[in-house]
Amino acid sequence: MIDVRHVSKVHLRGRLEVPALRDISCQIPAGSFTFILGPSGSGKSSLLYLLGALDEPTSGTITVEGQSLQAMTTRERDHFRREQAGFIFQNFNLLANLTALENVLVPFLPKGVAAKQRNKAEELLDRLGLGSRREHRPNQLSGGEQQRVAIARALLKRPKLVLADEPTGELDTANSIAILADLRSLCQEQQSTVVVVTHEHDYIQPGDHVIRIRDGKLAD
Ligand SMILES: Nc1ncnc2c1ncn2[C@@H]1O[C@H](COP(=O)(O)OP(=O)(O)O)[C@@H](O)[C@H]1O
Ligand SMILES: [Mg+2]
Repeated sequence: MIDVRHVSKVHLRGRLEVPALRDISCQIPAGSFTFILGPSGSGKSSLLYLLGALDEPTSGTITVEGQSLQAMTTRERDHFRREQAGFIFQNFNLLANLTALENVLVPFLPKGVAAKQRNKAEELLDRLGLGSRREHRPNQLSGGEQQRVAIARALLKRPKLVLADEPTGELDTANSIAILADLRSLCQEQQSTVVVVTHEHDYIQPGDHVIRIRDGKLAD
């Protein structure tokens, strides 16, 4: 479970203070498929980045399965981000000169890829319908295929927490529905908690957990 307590975030734009989150408190159940829903500029990405320790709150605390992200040392937070969180972004963030398979394995490339990881990466790509696309580079793949590569990359370490920022923002409706269905089934198998940021409510299903925000505050 993730416990967000009285979290505020003020971004600095030069000397200008831009409040993005104002005293947000909410909980995200372990194993849930959770949406952060709200209009553009409401603070959704800011909240997601805080959950993944990509950024720090101005005040308040975020506790993930009993561990306070704020109480961690920088090294512990790096470890959390690397080993327990998987990120998926709107624009896929794939490396143009690597193949699909290499992009999935990117977190392991610096230290060398073990056969076990390679097999798991191939299996994930197969599961996502990209078995015949392993050696293709991003510019040879459709948007939906690129996002599936990014999903495989995010899931390879079986993270406890999968965080997706408008993952279907660049895809058409049919592709978006298919991608979210894949994300749901894979994460359910891995028992990962998933948090998806979106400004559309079309993808919410019964049983999903929904956090609505507006102007940096919880809305209901
Ligand atoms: N790195 C940043 N620096 C300055 N302002 C930011 C930064 N990130 C977000 N903001 C501002 O914070 C507010 C919330 O942004 P964001 O969390 O990106 O909302 P959303 O994802 O819902 O569109 C907006 O006013 C945005 O301009
Ligand atoms: Mg955003």
